Amino acid sequence: EKGGYDSYMLKEIYEQPTALTNTLIGRLHDDTGEVNLDIGLDPASFKRISIIACGTAYYAGMVGEYLIEQLARIPVDIDVASEYRYRDPLVSEQTLAIVVSQSGETIDTLEALREAKKGGARTLGIINAKGSSITREVDDTLYIHAGPEIGVASTKAYTSMVSAMLLLALWLGRARGTLGGEQARELLHAARELPRLVEAALAPERVARIQEIAEKYAHASDYLFLGRGVNSPTAYEGALKLKEISYIHAEAYPAGEMKHGPIALIDEDLPVVVVATESRLLEKTISNVQEVRARKGKVIALLSDGDTENAQHADDVIYVPRAHEMVSPVVNAVAMQLLAYFTATALGKDVDKPRNLAKSVTVE
Ligand code: M6R
Repeated sequence: EKGGYDSYMLKEIYEQPTALTNTLIGRLHDDTGEVNLDIGLDPASFKRISIIACGTAYYAGMVGEYLIEQLARIPVDIDVASEYRYRDPLVSEQTLAIVVSQSGETIDTLEALREAKKGGARTLGIINAKGSSITREVDDTLYIHAGPEIGVASTKAYTSMVSAMLLLALWLGRARGTLGGEQARELLHAARELPRLVEAALAPERVARIQEIAEKYAHASDYLFLGRGVNSPTAYEGALKLKEISYIHAEAYPAGEMKHGPIALIDEDLPVVVVATESRLLEKTISNVQEVRARKGKVIALLSDGDTENAQHADDVIYVPRAHEMVSPVVNAVAMQLLAYFTATALGKDVDKPRNLAKSVTVE
């Protein structure tokens, strides 16, 4: 049932091109630049959005926050569900609460949803598991269609959630008139490329290179992950994946925040993974890379294919297929998953049964 793979996690990593195809299929109309989500939600019926989720789903929500604000110009805030449910949040009929969950059973997320409903919010679930508890309590569900995910460390659900967030941001942007036809077509095209780009990210020579790097640093006791803008969540997701399955302590920061504290951690034993793929902020990220190197940190840079110029600033480079910045978190996440996977296997850990973790957290 693991389809010839050593673990569910690895199988699910390789299922991503198919999962993404299923997330996107029938929803994109490149010719007209329209997105069809088949949900009853009236895109003009709210003034602000609250995104609520836990763990990996929360990081997918962070990408969503960025995309929705950029493309649809709606104010978005985001909370971890366990905070939202107890902080007496400001909710009204003008609020759209979006809950993001692979399982649809996470108790904190479910309770936070109930809290939002009490305040009169409209509700939308971005969910993988069909007919799960959350889907029964939201007004609308946008299924991500990633297929069953068994590995405790979420992989394909994450990339499908991020893609669903992109679809939602595009749909809202078109419906609310903030996103022009030409930009919409460009982004739809970029979204449609995702399965192919992720397939390319999983090419054997790329995977082998990531395995080599993972083995080189597997004995580090700490790791730092940095990213900016739409890829700061990629850094968080990379750190979470590594912690969950390799038990190496990892922290993530938006790259620009490094100098406000975490820079004190940097020495020659600290691997620092920096997401430095094609972006409007790339130059700023590279200056952060130089700050790491000046303090002898070991830089593992994620660079876009062909970026040989910035390779000189890194100790090790993971090249990823070039992607439009707005869709790049999906492609970049794959490299993060593989880095965590090969670190854990190099240390002899069972990636499908990480200690202390359950696939779905139905207790508080
Ligand atoms: O089923 P959910 O998406 O609601 O689960 C939320 C988190 O518990 C989950 O993403 C967790 O962080 C994963 N183990 C991450 O790999």
